[in-house]
Amino acid sequence: MNARIPLEIPHGWFCLSWSHELKEGEVKTVKFCGEDVVLFRTESGQPKAVAPFCPHLGAHLGHGGHVSKDSIVCPFHGWAWSGEGVCVDVPYADSIPIKAQNQVLDTYKLVEQNGIIMAWYHAEGKEPYFELPEVKEFNRDSDKWGKSHFFEYNIGTCLQEIAENDVDQAHFPTVHQSPSLPETDAYIDGIYRKTVAETLMDPENSDSVSDEYKGSYKEQFTTTFTRESWGLGQVLLRMVNLPPDGGEFVMVNASCPVDKENSILRWQMKVSKDIEDTLGMAIIDGIANGINDDIPIWENKSYWPNPMLCDGDGPINKFRKWVGQFYI
Ligand code: FES
Ligand SMILES: [Fe+2]
Repeated sequence: MNARIPLEIPHGWFCLSWSHELKEGEVKTVKFCGEDVVLFRTESGQPKAVAPFCPHLGAHLGHGGHVSKDSIVCPFHGWAWSGEGVCVDVPYADSIPIKAQNQVLDTYKLVEQNGIIMAWYHAEGKEPYFELPEVKEFNRDSDKWGKSHFFEYNIGTCLQEIAENDVDQAHFPTVHQSPSLPETDAYIDGIYRKTVAETLMDPENSDSVSDEYKGSYKEQFTTTFTRESWGLGQVLLRMVNLPPDGGEFVMVNASCPVDKENSILRWQMKVSKDIEDTLGMAIIDGIANGINDDIPIWENKSYWPNPMLCDGDGPINKFRKWVGQFYI
């Protein structure tokens, strides 16, 4: 019998946590690519991620382990492990076993920027071969931008199916009751992909915008909507020319492949202060709710490797060609 989603987990940088949800000294177990990963923040503020089972006798470091200085201390016999997977203390022994003085605990490469902690995954264990950009709107305070709004979605499908939604222009009228999203040709450069679309928006008549945010701007308007992706783990979305006077919207989407059939999306959105109390919240609310229209489709559909497409469908095959590079 065919699996509903016959896709492996792609390689790339993926989100394990919001930065603000991992405080100094905190330990968390997260599911990543089908495995438990123990994430902790050292006392000096560095995020670290290690495999769960202590090399000594196999205790799970995420169940009772605690942070001491720059290491995680196992709850079973107190061995301390650095974020590099090396034993740095055995509290009851005169010396650390020679073997444990080298890396014996698997670790994950992390980068922390844009308010998120991203981990590298490669099915064959290859080293990271691209970097994620720092987005100044999410790293520095500025008078231009209003406050951040955070959203998180647990979704029963894989990242490729979620990402394909962007180029599937024929679903916008049916699923989102919105004007079709005109897809300009995607610009592709290796792992990077960018689309720019002049997009018609109508928050006043959108079912996704809650009543409390309606009424701020009653006309339809066109905005330039840019989406930039670095693999399947991070997407940056921007809108400019927002009414009445050229307001802006920015969003980072950070994704996690929990396993082959489950994903977490984390979204941080902001609008420029000039529209924060007017149209801005209608846009944020509309986007945050809009995904709830897609989720039941994604969670029940099957992935067709050779779909039956027609001329009005978006550039789905082009997207799939690009995404193919993230699999072995
Ligand atoms: S199992 Fe971790 S210290 Fe013994
Ligand atoms: Fe959608």
